[in-house]
Amino acid sequence: MARRDETIIGLDIGTTKICVVVAEPTENGIDVVGIGTHPSRGLRKGVVVDIDATVESIKHAVEEAELMADCEITSVYAGIAGSHIRAFNSHGVVAVKDRDVSIGDVKRVIDAAKAVSIPMDREVIHVIPQEFIIDDQDGIREPLGMSGVRLEAKIHIVTAAVTSAQNIVKCANKAGLNVIDIVLEPLASAEAALAEDERDLGVCLLDIGGGTTDIAVFAEGSIHHTSVLGLGGSHITNDIAVGLRTPFEEAERVKKKFGVAAARFLGSDDVISVPSVGGRKPREVSRKILCEIIEPRVEEILSLARQSLEKEGLEDSIPSGVVLTGGCSALAGLPELAEEIFETTVREGIPGNIGGLQDVVRGPMYATGVGLVLFGAAQGRQNARFRIRDRSIFGRVKQRMRDWLYQF
Ligand SMILES: Nc1ncnc2c1ncn2[C@@H]1O[C@H](COP(=O)(O)OP(=O)(O)OP(=O)(O)O)[C@@H](O)[C@H]1O
Ligand SMILES: [Mg+2]
Repeated sequence: MARRDETIIGLDIGTTKICVVVAEPTENGIDVVGIGTHPSRGLRKGVVVDIDATVESIKHAVEEAELMADCEITSVYAGIAGSHIRAFNSHGVVAVKDRDVSIGDVKRVIDAAKAVSIPMDREVIHVIPQEFIIDDQDGIREPLGMSGVRLEAKIHIVTAAVTSAQNIVKCANKAGLNVIDIVLEPLASAEAALAEDERDLGVCLLDIGGGTTDIAVFAEGSIHHTSVLGLGGSHITNDIAVGLRTPFEEAERVKKKFGVAAARFLGSDDVISVPSVGGRKPREVSRKILCEIIEPRVEEILSLARQSLEKEGLEDSIPSGVVLTGGCSALAGLPELAEEIFETTVREGIPGNIGGLQDVVRGPMYATGVGLVLFGAAQGRQNARFRIRDRSIFGRVKQRMRDWLYQF
């Protein structure tokens, strides 16, 4: 098999599926050249709980992607999610040394903003500058070379439980893959699903997956809030399985085929046949009953997501509305219910900003995988510019903090 050094690979270790996206950089961006997916069995709520099962799933997804792209996969950008993720904004101030802001000043101000105590069991995943302020001039994205005496930086810091991050790297390594970097999944999904003008105006990305709901809020072009809730489509399926006393697989099937986010969005109230557990006879159930089981859970997920915005005072800062991704966003009536709960416009986020085999990754469940390769491509361009040498994942994490500066 050919080994293409420039190939970028995203590894989305989801609660319900592992997804590997293979892309090649082009002049205009990236071309998707392969994808591999396999059901995921070793995760709960976005966190690895069974290493061997996860490794097996990764291997299958990688094999499929290798066949499709006709290349050997060795290094990946891996996603991370789970309710252990904590993110917050911080702020630092320094004096500019020689009147013009130098790279040293920028590093010092980021260090000052980063100087918050982070518990030993947490690892910093991202340090993202939001804006720089020189003297009284705010909203500066590229402070290098500007004149001033006082430099301020506002940054967004994302931390994860060290053990969860290590387990992701461990699973990838055991599947024969080197992890170039770990990337927060809502940031990856945002990379694939959001338009530049939406980020400038203010937008909320909601990735409702199988075991987690990922939230990312952008305003004035930069990230303001990220959060991960440990709730997703598997909880809806579980409620249906319990409520209709049917096996999980059947509950999943009826959810996708007949489910609607709220009973009031149901057109006609048909009767559906649902298999029972333990060899009992199938039962006839009204579709309205099914929707009444789904509705409270979907409402809970959307309300918690809204509360997460309210806690940060951001509910009125998203004039571009909400963009839905993740497998669950395919649930009928979900955009309508989200519009009611968020009191704003809602659209479905299909992975974009890519060329090549766009059609195979058009589903909202591929936003994270596509976002990971877009993130990798952006980082590759930075690395080429600054000639970063190969180093361990944790060394790279540190290097990336510096790279974020240059992206401004
Ligand atoms: N047409 C559909 N209608 C309703 N739900 C759907 C539909 N298609 C997929 N889903 C649900 O989407 C969920 C899977 O979404 P996705 O593939 O984004 O999750 P994941 O990435 O594996 O998990 P996570 O990101 O939470 O770790 C499942 O719960 C599945 O039932
Ligand atoms: Mg996902």
